[in-house]
Amino acid sequence: RRYSRISGTGSYLPPRRLTNADMVGLLAERGIETSDDWIVDRTGIRARHYADDGVNASDLGLQASLKAIEAAGCQIGDIDLIIVATSTPDMVFPSTASILQRKLTESAQASGQPGAAGGAAFDVQAVCSGFIYALTIADAMIQTGAATRALVVGAEVFSRILDFNDRTTCVLFGDGAGAVVLEAVEHDGSGPAVLASDIHADGRHTGILCVPGTVSGGQVLGDPLLKMDGQAVFKLAVGLLESAAKAALAKAGMTEPDVDWLVPHQANIRIIQSTARKLKLSMDKVIVTVDQHGNTSAASIPLALDEGVRSGRIQPGQTAMLEGVGGGFTWGAVLLRL
Ligand code: ACO
Repeated sequence: RRYSRISGTGSYLPPRRLTNADMVGLLAERGIETSDDWIVDRTGIRARHYADDGVNASDLGLQASLKAIEAAGCQIGDIDLIIVATSTPDMVFPSTASILQRKLTESAQASGQPGAAGGAAFDVQAVCSGFIYALTIADAMIQTGAATRALVVGAEVFSRILDFNDRTTCVLFGDGAGAVVLEAVEHDGSGPAVLASDIHADGRHTGILCVPGTVSGGQVLGDPLLKMDGQAVFKLAVGLLESAAKAALAKAGMTEPDVDWLVPHQANIRIIQSTARKLKLSMDKVIVTVDQHGNTSAASIPLALDEGVRSGRIQPGQTAMLEGVGGGFTWGAVLLRL
């Protein structure tokens, strides 16, 4: 049977790093009070990275992609599908995936290699579940033969949509990108593969996490900054993550003890701990980056996966449960064997 498998991972954080102490200073300039203790106690976040002006999601995505392609041992010209999960695209259109494809092609041609032009490229918008959605779509396209080697990227510049007058949200998010190369492989089901996925949405909850503005008639209409009812999100997230992870396990004919690693969306350490408990996993089987990255939305899962792989914790042959929840409301899980 034809499966898809992850053959390389990569990630990139913009160099500008803001600690909680930096956020305290930044908000104090606006007369707003926060503290390292509050942020660490409620979220586990200690630092986040912000891209400089003029650096866009495609630029972060390019750096992560080049590392993933190098780790996969393939060439840019071998990629026939690019999916970028983002809620902070470079522009209204074309897609960040198309812009990334151009940048990859320029990078390849600068060293005399063939580019990626001609393969399919599109964005997926499922906010913090975006990478789970994108991986699910790329896997399905590879299984059906519509693609052979896909680059699946989560890239965000959430710092651009934060309201720095709203202390309940602006301390939570950061910028970054993660990428994987997903390629076709034939085996009996015991080899490396995306084993199962489970994705959902419930549009009744659009209001609890949104950027309600839009561009119309040459103007921004409505509010272009992030709004979140944190407690409502928290309450929904925990149950939905458990159900998606258990559904993915059931589809793969597996149970909780078969999971070697949990690679969760990095929004809040308390949500991560509670999901780990529900899956009966101890925290030393969970990849945690939220302390250093904050919530990078669609980028957080591939950033954490790359951290787990490059640190040598996640080993070939082991299973990993990737799961996320985000605006929409959207949620999902992907179970894979590395
Ligand atoms: N610094 C200091 N105090 C603060 C801050 C801050 N940065 N932010 C809020 N407070 C205060 C509030 O004003 C409130 O004060 P009050 O009691 O005097 O009114 C108090 O802290 C408690 O506020 P709550 O909102 O009730 O705090 P809560 O314990 O719910 O924590 C948080 C807030 C961290 C946002 C939490 O609700 C949460 O993590 N929710 C989930 C959010 C999430 O995971 N979002 C992302 C998922 S989807 C995605 O990634 C896009």
